Amino acid sequence: MKLLVTGGAGYVGSVCTAVLTERGHQVTVIDDLSTGNRDAIPAAAEFVEGSVLELAAEVLGRGGFDGVIHFAARSLVGESVAKPEIYWQDNVVTTLALLDAMHAHGVGNLVFSSTAATYGEPASVPITEDMPTAPTNPYGATKLAIDHAITSYAHAHGIGATSLRYFNVAGAYGAIGENREIETHLIPLVLQVALGHRDKIFIFGEDWPTSDGTPVRDYIHIRDLADAHVLALESNQPGTHRIYNLGSGDGYSVNEVIEMARKVTGHPIPAEVTERRAGDPATLIASSEKIKRELGWNPTRTDLEIVVKDAWAFSSALGDRAHAAQRSR
Ligand SMILES: NC(=O)c1ccc[n+]([C@@H]2O[C@H](COP(=O)([O-])OP(=O)(O)OC[C@H]3O[C@@H](n4cnc5c(N)ncnc54)[C@H](O)[C@@H]3O)[C@@H](O)[C@H]2O)c1
Repeated sequence: MKLLVTGGAGYVGSVCTAVLTERGHQVTVIDDLSTGNRDAIPAAAEFVEGSVLELAAEVLGRGGFDGVIHFAARSLVGESVAKPEIYWQDNVVTTLALLDAMHAHGVGNLVFSSTAATYGEPASVPITEDMPTAPTNPYGATKLAIDHAITSYAHAHGIGATSLRYFNVAGAYGAIGENREIETHLIPLVLQVALGHRDKIFIFGEDWPTSDGTPVRDYIHIRDLADAHVLALESNQPGTHRIYNLGSGDGYSVNEVIEMARKVTGHPIPAEVTERRAGDPATLIASSEKIKRELGWNPTRTDLEIVVKDAWAFSSALGDRAHAAQRSR
C-alpha cells in the first residue's frame, strides 16, 4: 500500500514506519519535528517536513494514497491542562483538516492513535471498549473528540477507520526507541537514572489502593503495538469506525517497574516518594480481548522484563553515542 504516516519521526510513528516499510509498504512521513527526531525516520520512507495542518491536503493531493496512519499529536497531560488551546488546535483542528483532505482526495483507510486517557478514572479494570469515556484532562478530551469526528466521517463519507486506544507504550525496536527532549514516561525516566542522567526517580505517592501502594499501569511493547496497526490497516472496512484497546492485559506497579529496571541494568536506581499527582488513577489495565478476537492480534512481548530489556538496550546505546559525540566536540 502507499501510505501517509503523520508523526513518523516520533517514538511510535518511527517504529511503525519501520515495520510498514519492512513489510513492503511505501510510506511518506509528515512530521514537524516538534517532539520527533529526523534520525528516527527509516531511510526507506519519504520525509516531508512541516505541519499536518499545512501539508495534509497537498501531500494527499499528489494522488495514489491507499491509507493514512495518524500519530502526530501533542501528548503531554500536564501541558494540556496548562495550555488546552494548543491541544484543541494541534490535535482536533489538525485532524479535521486531515479528514477533510482524505475525503477530498478519496483516501478511505485510516488508523488513528487514540489513548487510554479517553476513559479517565475507570470504575473497574480491566477496561473494555464499552466502558464510559470520561477523560480527566484536555489531552484525553481532544483524543475523544477526534474519535467522535472519525465516526461521523466514516459514516458520512465511507472512510474505513480504526482508533487504537493505547495504554503505556514502552520498549524499543532495535535502534528505534523513546528519545524525547521532555520525557514523562516512567520506563525511560528510570533508565535515565541508570545512565547517570538523573539522580533519582520520583514516586508520586505510596498510599494508593494497590498491592504495594504505588500506581499500577499496563505496559504494551512497541513492537506488538506496531503489529496491531498493520492488522487494523489491512482489515478496515469502508464506512466503519472500530475502536480497540491495546495493552498487555497485565498491570505492574511503579515499584515493580523500578525493581525490574534495577535487575536489568544492575544499577541501584535511587527512588524518592513524593506527593500524589492530581488526576492520576490508581490502576489502569486494558482488556485487549476485542482486538485479539476480531483481528487475531497476538502480542508476544507481554513480559515486563522483555519490555525493560529492549528499552535498556536502546537507551544505553543512545547514551554511549551521545557520550561519544560529546567527547568528539
Ligand atoms: N507513547 C505512549 O505511551 C502513548 C500512549 C497513548 C497514545 N499515544 C499516542 O500515540 C501517538 C504517538 O505518540 P508518541 O509517544 O510517539 O509521541 P511523540 O511525541 O514521540 O511523536 C509525535 C510525533 O508527531 C510530531 N507532530 C506533533 N504534532 C505535529 C503536527 N501538528 N504536524 C506534524 N507533526 C507533528 C512530532 O514531531 C513527533 O515526531 C500520539 O498521538 C499519542 O497521543 C502514545
